Amino acid sequence: MKVNCVRFVAVILMLVTAPACVFAQREVTKEAVRGSIEVEHGVVVSAQRDASEVGVDVLMRGGNAVDAAVATAFALAVTHPEAGNIGGGGFMLVFPGEARAPVCVDYRETAPAAATETMFTPGESRFTCKYVGVPGTVRGLELAHREFGKLPWSELVSPAVQLAEEGFALDQYLADSLNELLKESPDFAELQRVYGKDGGKAEWREGDRLALPELATSLRAIAEHGPNAFYDGVVAEQLVAEMTAGEGLISRDDLRGYQAKLREPIRGTYRGYHIFAAPPPSSGGICLVEMLNILEPLELRRHGRHSAEAMHFTIEAMQRAFCDRARHLGDPDFNTIPAELTDKAYAKQLMEAIPAWQATQSETLAPEIPLAGEGPNTTHFSVIDATGMAVANTYTLEESYGARIVVRGAGFLLNNEMGDFNPQPGVTNRTGQIGTSANIIAPGKRMLSSMCPVIVAQDGRAVLVTGSPGGRTIINTVLSVVLGVLEYELDVRSAVDAPRWHHQWLRDETIFERSADSAYRAAIQRLKLMGHKTKLTDVQGSAHSIYIDKQSGRRHGAADVRRSGHAAGY
Ligand code: GLY
Repeated sequence: MKVNCVRFVAVILMLVTAPACVFAQREVTKEAVRGSIEVEHGVVVSAQRDASEVGVDVLMRGGNAVDAAVATAFALAVTHPEAGNIGGGGFMLVFPGEARAPVCVDYRETAPAAATETMFTPGESRFTCKYVGVPGTVRGLELAHREFGKLPWSELVSPAVQLAEEGFALDQYLADSLNELLKESPDFAELQRVYGKDGGKAEWREGDRLALPELATSLRAIAEHGPNAFYDGVVAEQLVAEMTAGEGLISRDDLRGYQAKLREPIRGTYRGYHIFAAPPPSSGGICLVEMLNILEPLELRRHGRHSAEAMHFTIEAMQRAFCDRARHLGDPDFNTIPAELTDKAYAKQLMEAIPAWQATQSETLAPEIPLAGEGPNTTHFSVIDATGMAVANTYTLEESYGARIVVRGAGFLLNNEMGDFNPQPGVTNRTGQIGTSANIIAPGKRMLSSMCPVIVAQDGRAVLVTGSPGGRTIINTVLSVVLGVLEYELDVRSAVDAPRWHHQWLRDETIFERSADSAYRAAIQRLKLMGHKTKLTDVQGSAHSIYIDKQSGRRHGAADVRRSGHAAGY
């Protein structure tokens, strides 16, 4: 009897501690973890557990990666209010597999028709209706679904309706984040009413349930009547009423006229891998490919990942790509973007001018001075399905919780994305503003983004899906993950966990994540001797990523646990 009992306990322990892959091999079972997952069929890695699980449920019901992405995006609008949204915008990169070339759905917000070049005055609050761009998310998800989706639209929105209506359990991350937000925003009455616990009288704790009934009503309208409910129906009416009350610019015509666009991704190669990334109006893809092109001939691996040499070259590549970003990038419908930026020959010239042992002073690369500030709050998720179709989606409200304005009656948060335009034409100064023309406000124009959803492929199959939040740091976070896998041949978990650093041309400094890695710390000391100005930070980005093993086909999901993150799969 005693032996049987011990065996029983041992079996239970084995089952509890067995890796997800053991279950996946035996039967098709959904798994969800905060860290890493390895499964056979499909994976969704996002900032929040319920949202990742919603995506995997869709895959298990026969939906493809785009179906799962649409459902995950709507779910995050409920469960990850910092950045998940229906009131913002973003980029969805789709790798459909053999049948069709990769494509990027651009659902970046636009400036309202009444917007002007000089509508902002220095120092004014960014948490106002004036800062709200025309939201693109619902049209973007519609376009992705129309092009690629298999399951009915309403089935993809319904899980989000249910989460909003019935509520979901807060994890520690969201409880802390909401408490901080509510403390910082006493004047935002609707935000306090909708997101406060007991009308703002109590603090949120892990495990508390948050229900969002008005958001549920809006989502139900979108589920039942389609995206027009948002752009030309009851939700549009509520949004415009909010604008009228708050002296915002978005009109019914702005909403009716909003269009998501299918765009060619930026393409590059690195050591025989094909890189696909978000095109303008995001700067992400161009800067990433420019940096990879500069770095490829330098064979960083020879020096060692955390050698001062390899880190110096990546910093110098960042500096040059971000200088080109400031000079040239903006909405491609309003600007001609130089094709040479992603050319290997152009990168070679830049590479050859990098001093081997000395930091380049940023101001010697171009006369412009610092760019305006940008919020580090966006969210990225990655999806792979059983056929190999992959989606990398990054979307945002700009700052954490956007403009902090909840549309009355409709229950959703509005973006403050107009802050991503250069605020004043011709005004470039050392306090952090740039006034170059490519990214100056114009009616209908999309503001420049740094979002960088990326899919890496080899022999026609996706092998890496990644992306990150983090304002301009996004691009360098993605560079770190891509180099980790392609250059240093790390497994995806190690590539995501590796310490990151960021240089954005101006200010002329490199910000390093703190790390206990002794080689990395020693390299930072050497970089200082080379003239690099350095700063430390606790966290850069949140790169929820997937690696697909070419031989076995197994899917490795890595949730970035620097902030919140969950991998689910089957
Ligand atoms: N608002 C952040 C970005 O678009 O990069």
